Amino acid sequence: MVQNVAGQMAELEPEDFYLLSGLEQGMRFSRWVAKGKLPEFSRLDGDEVDYRLDRCERRGLVERKTIQYTGFRLTFEGYDALALRTFAERDTIEGVGAPLGVGKESDVYEARSYKPLALKFHREGYTNFREVKREREYTADKNHISWFYTARKAAEREHEALRTVYPQVSVPRPIDHNRHAVVMEKLEGVELSKAKLDPAQAVGVLDLVLDEVQTAYEQGYVHADMSEYNVFVSSEGVTVFDWPQAVPTDHENADEFLERDCRNVVSYFTRKYPAELPDDVDVPALAAAVRAGEFETVRAFD
Ligand SMILES: Nc1ncnc2c1ncn2[C@@H]1O[C@H](COP(=O)(O)OP(=O)(O)O)[C@@H](O)[C@H]1O
Ligand SMILES: [Mg+2]
Repeated sequence: MVQNVAGQMAELEPEDFYLLSGLEQGMRFSRWVAKGKLPEFSRLDGDEVDYRLDRCERRGLVERKTIQYTGFRLTFEGYDALALRTFAERDTIEGVGAPLGVGKESDVYEARSYKPLALKFHREGYTNFREVKREREYTADKNHISWFYTARKAAEREHEALRTVYPQVSVPRPIDHNRHAVVMEKLEGVELSKAKLDPAQAVGVLDLVLDEVQTAYEQGYVHADMSEYNVFVSSEGVTVFDWPQAVPTDHENADEFLERDCRNVVSYFTRKYPAELPDDVDVPALAAAVRAGEFETVRAFD
């Protein structure tokens, strides 16, 4: 698991960030940045580069490898530090708190500001990357796949989807985005998968979730990763989060994804609340109703 670098931020000096962003620059061209290139990328002299590399390596922000030359790259922690620095400079957040959720594809922390926020670091590509790395250890740099790139794209997509559908769809309010990180409103409530719903309420909650799916469609997006793990339930209603995989409704697979989203949600409720729902909901018809904006009038489960 990736460590939370927030605790180290106060110890880092401006020159440490010059080095980290120099490495970031260099990594656009090669996976391991030759040490000799670092003065140019970071605008620090050779001795300063050595000193900063040592400090950053001890803190786990960079790693080194000697192939034909000594190369360095940022770790995810180093990339996190750069994003945190940007958020602090923009006054987006004042500090990072406890973990809210640590998944395979992301690490989510509470962030402090004028009110509690959530800070999500995307990690897409990281697990894959380790497999790729084993195979490609010594291949030419031109083939390099940057896991930062994958994670940054995911954060961009998530922020863009949130900005488009908020506030019509009940999603965490998007606040800011930088590199592989997204800052958003912190949600209260519990994940649907852990919520103990009164069976009499279950159909009502399913309706609420499908209403959000429909509104998102009207706003031009299909979530494409809907499940009981990406919905929060509270006394205020439901909130749908985790949007990096969302696709515009004109995407060639949008219909397929919409139907899958509907199926995931419906099948969760039919499994968990079998007495409340028919076990033969016509999901394709339901998805068609959602596309037509007619879900509310159809109410497949009454
Ligand atoms: N805005 C938020 N407020 C509170 N908790 C959140 C928020 N966003 C995510 N989480 C927590 O972090 C976990 C992982 O976030 P999620 O966006 O689903 O990423 P992943 O792609 O890793 O599933 C969630 O299951 C949830 O518990
Ligand atoms: Mg999730």
